[in-house]
Amino acid sequence: MIIKKRKLVELEIIDLAYGGMGLAKPDGFPVFVDKVFPGDKCVVKITRKKKNYAKGVLVNLIEPSSLRNHSPCKYSNYCGGCKWQSILYKTQLEYKKKHVIECLDHIADLQDIIVKDIIPCENIHGFRNKMEFSCTNRRWLLSEELENSDIKKDFGLGLHVPGAFDKIIDIEKCYIQPELGNKILCDAKEYIKQSGLLAYCFKTHKGFWRFLVLKNSLAFNTWMVNIVTKNENNELLIPMAEMLIKKYKNIISVVNNVSAGKSGVAIGEYEILLSGNSFIKEKLGKYIFEISANSFFQTNTRQAEKLYSLVSHYAALTGIENVIDLYSGTGTISIWLSQKAKKVIGIELIESAVQDAKRNADINNIKNCCFYSGDIKHVLPGLKKKCDVMIIDPPRAGMHKDVLSQIMSFSPQKIVYVSCNPATLARDIKVLKSKYKILEIQPIDMFPHTFHIESVANLEIF
Ligand SMILES: C[S@@+](CC[C@H](N)C(=O)[O-])C[C@H]1O[C@@H](n2cnc3c(N)ncnc32)[C@H](O)[C@@H]1O
Repeated sequence: MIIKKRKLVELEIIDLAYGGMGLAKPDGFPVFVDKVFPGDKCVVKITRKKKNYAKGVLVNLIEPSSLRNHSPCKYSNYCGGCKWQSILYKTQLEYKKKHVIECLDHIADLQDIIVKDIIPCENIHGFRNKMEFSCTNRRWLLSEELENSDIKKDFGLGLHVPGAFDKIIDIEKCYIQPELGNKILCDAKEYIKQSGLLAYCFKTHKGFWRFLVLKNSLAFNTWMVNIVTKNENNELLIPMAEMLIKKYKNIISVVNNVSAGKSGVAIGEYEILLSGNSFIKEKLGKYIFEISANSFFQTNTRQAEKLYSLVSHYAALTGIENVIDLYSGTGTISIWLSQKAKKVIGIELIESAVQDAKRNADINNIKNCCFYSGDIKHVLPGLKKKCDVMIIDPPRAGMHKDVLSQIMSFSPQKIVYVSCNPATLARDIKVLKSKYKILEIQPIDMFPHTFHIESVANLEIF
């Protein structure tokens, strides 16, 4: 078969690659295709042709795969949030486990590692405790919306098309957030539409409304609404906050993050409290955490508890160990482990997260945790402390190579490595394996309907 850019080809998808794309191999040549699944027979337009592989987009589905499942979500073919919503959850888990095993094999050259079955997420809908909806002045239309002249195209509030920061689908209902979030979204959207002010435009950097971020607490059944705008406008936003708080007694916090900068992140340069508190509280295990608009918190509360229990199980603390928690965020793992450790030291780059961690330790009356702020590669060498167990929970990019060699010279007895990216986990384990035995890896699904998978590796010094 001839694979050429802009050509239409008929393909059968045989696999799902890490990253979520379908894979076909006509005459052994890999072609990656978005929005398709193993077993699909389809017509694909080739969009990129390289020496070793090609990429294409789906033009026509000739015969759908038996793995396809009816998705309740009408946006599932368009939205970047849940690309795997169209396949059965059981199948999602099988492919995620396969990806972890393949990364260890191809990247770390480890073939006989125990990778346990994924701990599934019991509620595959309504599990997310944080949703970030973007405003747009150029709404991206679904194919069934294209002919509808009643739809106003100059405003939308919703989620992104995969890989396109400026293409936003207007969303009425998102299945991965609790139902109340959808009601709040619709009321907030109506207020925004009636306001007479425009949505922010990424090209001209004009317009007022930027993001609507909803956070919820499972334990307390409370909500935070964070309205991100380009400028201050209390005359408009305080009545909006009052309307929401009056209608929904579960909303206990409405804040306004003001962000005049050009970056596409929903974090303001400063924050105005519009109504209620500036934070909501959540409970993990027996610990309480205060979550403010910009503080990091695991987005799947129930799974976070399972994740931290697993970390604790692997750390196997007896009360006499000194623990270092690298990439400690708002201190959740440090606090979770504190009761079984002699001392826990957390290191985290973001100063505000460190402040949150200290406050969270105080709230829970924990005295044996301390937190340092700064880049780990600068802070860790200066720590002249004994370390028996090291917890590592880096961002998707994994660890800096200097940090890896610092850890090797620290030589803790045990390492528990928590990773949201099997590829960088495997890359880092490839270095650690010269000194550490990999006892087992337990993946846990924090992100149903996506290709993402969290894994926890249990390592012990030789
Ligand atoms: C995946 S989060 C882990 C958070 C925390 N362990 C938890 O469970 O909530 C990764 C954290 O690493 C922090 N981080 C990223 N690069 C860093 C660096 N070079 N030095 C220190 N912390 C860093 C981020 O700010 C983020 O809080």
